[in-house]
Amino acid sequence: MSAVKHDASSENPGSQDEALLTPAEAGVTPLPRLDPAADPATQVAALRDHLRHHEYQYYVLDAPTISDQEYDTLMNQLKALEAEHPDLLTPDSPTQRVMGAPAERFAKVAHSRPMLSLDNAYNEEELRDWDRRVHDLAGNLPVVYVAELKLDGLSLALHYEINARGEAHLVRGLTRGDGSIGEDVTTNVRTIRSVPLSIPSAKIHKAHLDSSEDAGPEVKAGFEIRGEVVMPLDAFKKANEERVAAGQAPAANPRNFAAGTLRTLDTQLVAKRRLDFYGYFLVINGEYNPAGQHATLETLTSLGFRVNPHRDTFKSVDQILAFLAKTEESRDSLGYEIDGVVIKVDSQATQLRLGYTGRAPRWAIAYKFTARAAVTQVREIQITVGRTGKLTPLAVLVPVVVGGVTVTNVGLFNADEIARLGIMGGSWVRVQRAGDVIPNIVEVIVDAEHPEGTVPFVLPTHCPVCHQPVEKAEGEVDTYCINIDCPARLWQSLMYFSHRGVMNIEGLGQVLAQQLLESGLVKSIADLYTLTEDQLLTLERVGKKSAEAVLAQIANSKNAGLARVLMGLGIPFVGERTAELLASEFGSMDAVSNASVDELVKVQEIGPKVAAAVHDFFEIPQNRALVARLAELGLKMTAERKQKSNQLEGLTFVLTGTFSTLSREEAKEKIEAAGGKVSGSVSKKTSYLVVGEDAGSKLAKAQELKVATIDEPALLAMLAAPSPAIGEPPSESAPEPAG
Ligand code: IVH
Repeated sequence: MSAVKHDASSENPGSQDEALLTPAEAGVTPLPRLDPAADPATQVAALRDHLRHHEYQYYVLDAPTISDQEYDTLMNQLKALEAEHPDLLTPDSPTQRVMGAPAERFAKVAHSRPMLSLDNAYNEEELRDWDRRVHDLAGNLPVVYVAELKLDGLSLALHYEINARGEAHLVRGLTRGDGSIGEDVTTNVRTIRSVPLSIPSAKIHKAHLDSSEDAGPEVKAGFEIRGEVVMPLDAFKKANEERVAAGQAPAANPRNFAAGTLRTLDTQLVAKRRLDFYGYFLVINGEYNPAGQHATLETLTSLGFRVNPHRDTFKSVDQILAFLAKTEESRDSLGYEIDGVVIKVDSQATQLRLGYTGRAPRWAIAYKFTARAAVTQVREIQITVGRTGKLTPLAVLVPVVVGGVTVTNVGLFNADEIARLGIMGGSWVRVQRAGDVIPNIVEVIVDAEHPEGTVPFVLPTHCPVCHQPVEKAEGEVDTYCINIDCPARLWQSLMYFSHRGVMNIEGLGQVLAQQLLESGLVKSIADLYTLTEDQLLTLERVGKKSAEAVLAQIANSKNAGLARVLMGLGIPFVGERTAELLASEFGSMDAVSNASVDELVKVQEIGPKVAAAVHDFFEIPQNRALVARLAELGLKMTAERKQKSNQLEGLTFVLTGTFSTLSREEAKEKIEAAGGKVSGSVSKKTSYLVVGEDAGSKLAKAQELKVATIDEPALLAMLAAPSPAIGEPPSESAPEPAG
């Protein structure tokens, strides 16, 4: 290997010493027992230390050493302590990533120095030309290159200030904007877990960042980290599925989604989506990377930033070409999008000698990979009818290979999307595939070789399948076929109803469903349950064995239960989770179908949109008739109702000491879930003091006030006891409450 240093093979170069370490091994302050007698400031500091360490393990190194549940427990403990001691709250606490009310708009802020762009090379020849220019201009200065992935996201500048104690705090996050002036998206940036909100003084000192110029009496100095924000592909896929489920058009690619997310005014939403930040530049005293690019990336790693591990230093273009080939091969398995490799001159002295053209440094170049996109022609725009009756346009394409996959048609979401892109029958379009995500049309191309399309798209006024009029609800983007008997809807409904995750009628495949509809044997989902073997045997290619099998599965599905039937009805927005919530809350189809919107929104996790959809569904007489018929045919329409816990109603608990099975926070949650209250101090109103190991002064106070004391097993027994009817006293086995 002739590379100067080869460290790209390890996932986290420069950080192995910190990867997969327990907090103790990483030198994190030991977690004191959460004894209320201990100094709260010490507990808070230790909890924050631990949480930061685990955030770093998870979000920077991708190597968590505790479970999500354990992390949540620590976080809840910190939240509880901070609530009890608001004076201890600091903006860099891990609890404070989501801060403040949404902004009205983002302030415009000038960059410390312009955020430049890069010149591109598209092939070996262009890369060699650039290398020659670099060598010509560098004279006798060293030319060593650092190659990094060109992450396909948006650039971001993070400003840190170093306080009198030598710690750095994130004070600002700016988008690139026009390169000179960016937008202040600090509140959103704070929610990106791989962005440190603060950096301990020891790390700042080790990186010699505290020797930067004085910025005033309060703020000793500052520095800036620049890098790229990306949305990992799995997060992109998940968030896009949620958009589609909520009736919104999906984002075209992870970069757009990341950019849109970072620029939304709803910080809560940003916090919910996963964005990652990869650092690649340090700006200090107005200069880039004084120690050189390679050393800077090491420094950023040691400061706790996520730095992309796929990087290396090279002396020649030949070595770089090998790196490019290797990178392109692994492109699909990275888990995030890249559009090339950035090659930078390592030494700052050489960089300064090479200088800048108007918009880009001469000391760096972006080698662009060919996009996983291709140009093809739209044969026609067809309309498909979904199970909810939604009309979805579909562009039928002249088949084209995009990144190794043949694409023959692309879903277009809705008419607005078609109008926005200007797609017509005959249009030439660029089709793109992001990761393993569904292909989409990015743009229409019109030039000398690609004439404009000839068949404008007009949304039909009638369903293309049943020819009944279609409807577009006010304020909605989508158009629906509202004929519940539409064969297209019915076919989709049958497919959905019989799906493994719904009623699990495996033998009812696409072909059989089609045959059943065409033969008229099935005109509604309910007809499945009256099918006979003789009827099935009249269909082509249906034998005795398969007829028996499918009939057995249909019979079996009668016991699937309320949640599955609710799902199977295809009510908009009612997927597995919502169906289960409805079933366990209402217990019967009668109760669900007669629930008012107000009653529906009272169910946890069910919002007004879903409540309205459920209510509207049961307002339609045909839907009610279908449900009644299914019930008559013997489908199980009940579910076990969630027990409302109220066994601790009217009781107030105080907790002291350490418990052996529950954390204090868990005990509190359980008591509250069972209708009890938890208070921080013992008074005459306290029903029980729950005493753990090493109980503090509260025990003496309880004895003084004659408050009943119980231990953890007694608390668990009370929690496990069946709920008494409202108004009844707590079960006799529980100790007598005081007062
Ligand atoms: S260096 C002089 N390094 O690519 C500033 N940029 O096409 C040049 N990008 O705006 C930036 N990965 O948003 C650099 N490893 C990387 C990068 C990278 C992605 C983006 C960046 C920049 C754009 C230029």
